[in-house]
Amino acid sequence: MLLKFRPVCICNTIRYPRVKEAIDRGARTIEDVAQATGCTTGECAGERCRPVIVAMLAEAQAKT
Ligand code: FES
Repeated sequence: MLLKFRPVCICNTIRYPRVKEAIDRGARTIEDVAQATGCTTGECAGERCRPVIVAMLAEAQAKT
């Protein structure tokens, strides 16, 4: 699946590019990403999207 269509937060329909943009703009924690995008605030309270965000943050950190 193309990255731009990859869902991160299914509850709030937030896809990969929006989360990537938040990280590129300085989000460094789950809370930062949640505040910038609304991820983790849906029905599952982040149960499904949290691991994906953690992986994206780790990937971004590995590149710095
Ligand atoms: S998938 Fe993000 S809050 Fe449920």
